[in-house]
Amino acid sequence: MTRIRVGARNHGVDDWRILPPEPITDLDTYLGIGGGEGLWKARRSDPRDVVDLVWRSGLRGRGGAGFPTGVKWQTIASVDPGQTRYVVCNAAEGEPGTFKDRAILRSNPYQVLEGIAIACHAVGAVEAYIGIKASFTRELEVLYRAVDEIRESGLLEGIGLTVVRGPEDYLFGEEKALLEVIEGRDPLPRWYPPYLVGLHTGLVAGVGAGSAGPWEVANPTLVNNVETLANIPSILRNGPDWFRRVGTDRSPGTMVFTVSGDTRVEGVFELPLGVPLAVLVDGVAGGTDRPLKAVLPGASNQPIPGELIDTPAAFETLAEIGSGLGSGGFIVFDDSVCMADVGRAYSRFLAEESCGQCPPCKLGCTSLADMFERLETGDADPYLLQEMAAWAERVTDANRCGLGAGERALAAGILNRFSEELASHIPGGCRVERRIQVAKLVDLEEGRFVTAPGRSERPD
Ligand SMILES: Cc1cc2nc3c(=O)[nH]c(=O)nc-3n(C[C@H](O)[C@H](O)[C@H](O)COP(=O)(O)O)c2cc1C
Repeated sequence: MTRIRVGARNHGVDDWRILPPEPITDLDTYLGIGGGEGLWKARRSDPRDVVDLVWRSGLRGRGGAGFPTGVKWQTIASVDPGQTRYVVCNAAEGEPGTFKDRAILRSNPYQVLEGIAIACHAVGAVEAYIGIKASFTRELEVLYRAVDEIRESGLLEGIGLTVVRGPEDYLFGEEKALLEVIEGRDPLPRWYPPYLVGLHTGLVAGVGAGSAGPWEVANPTLVNNVETLANIPSILRNGPDWFRRVGTDRSPGTMVFTVSGDTRVEGVFELPLGVPLAVLVDGVAGGTDRPLKAVLPGASNQPIPGELIDTPAAFETLAEIGSGLGSGGFIVFDDSVCMADVGRAYSRFLAEESCGQCPPCKLGCTSLADMFERLETGDADPYLLQEMAAWAERVTDANRCGLGAGERALAAGILNRFSEELASHIPGGCRVERRIQVAKLVDLEEGRFVTAPGRSERPD
């Protein structure tokens, strides 16, 4: 039996906001706890007031970048009224160490669908899409059922909603690649962001926006993460001040965190933003048997060293220490791990997932993975660390998407924070036996994740 742990209680939240204690399995139950009220309120309001409310709530995107949701909605809502607009819910969930979108879909898909409907009203879209991996069969089953119920109830009135099943690639979750998949192509990021060149423009890879030129807007499309949209109904229902009651000033609300790795308990926990990372790792997830070495917020962020575990888990505070909150998925390592090995494993993951459209990204991720491996095998000279630092700078050159920036954060973070450990590999290589793998989280059973080996379909 899969058990989703909800950790909101006793951490400053009066009750859960996103993850209910038990899954909500039918629309009537959802409506019985206030579901639908946010949508009714939105539909009785001017769309500009809905955008304003979301803006004032301070909600920030939960898909990785923490971009202010109100600003994004305002950008799409304010383009020329003649433009067709779309709303896309990003349910691709490909970040290593993240399982929260699936936990949300399993336990309450209705709030996500209601969030989509509110977003459509706010930005003036009549068509919406949900992009989700075809392999998420359990979530698809729940989602299809909820879509049918909500359609029959009339709540989706006037909105065409399509569920698009996509591939396993990490890049499927990147918003420009997601649009490509929705249009039936491979997950190769386009040039222009969705708010400039959206869906169904007829432009290949978003390049050359006809006579208008590339900086003219074409079918602006709102892309939001599952958890971002799940927050919308209660913001509408209860207001922005209620939303800001928990969290920090710059990171209001709760976040649905995933903790995996060397903690005694793994799982998905909803906590207010701004709680010390230690509350999550040592408290809710039970801590580690051996001393804590580092916490990795997904593949694309600087590792947080164990001594900084009291840092508040909020966008601004993790950025202040040079790392990031990402999508709230924390992979925990105790001191049996070698950081050169962490660098090797996650750089290799990013190298394999890099699509190859931008040479500095593909070459940079691959070179860095190779160089971390050379440190481990003892094939490194004293200049290697300098060479690695130079690659970490160049890996982002002329890139279409943020994958290269993720590699830079990861590699530069390990080089800066764990320089002595890396230098100790020259000469002699790695003296630690443990080798880690970037595993895919596929399910959660009794406080441990069920994993599957990462994919290596493009071993180059
Ligand atoms: C390589 C890469 C992979 C990404 N994967 C995901 C993903 O699986 N799910 C997601 O919601 N966002 C993902 N993102 C972020 C999206 O591009 C986008 O910023 C997000 O969906 C916006 O939603 P939000 O504003 O609600 O956070 C990824 C970004 C990059 C660069």
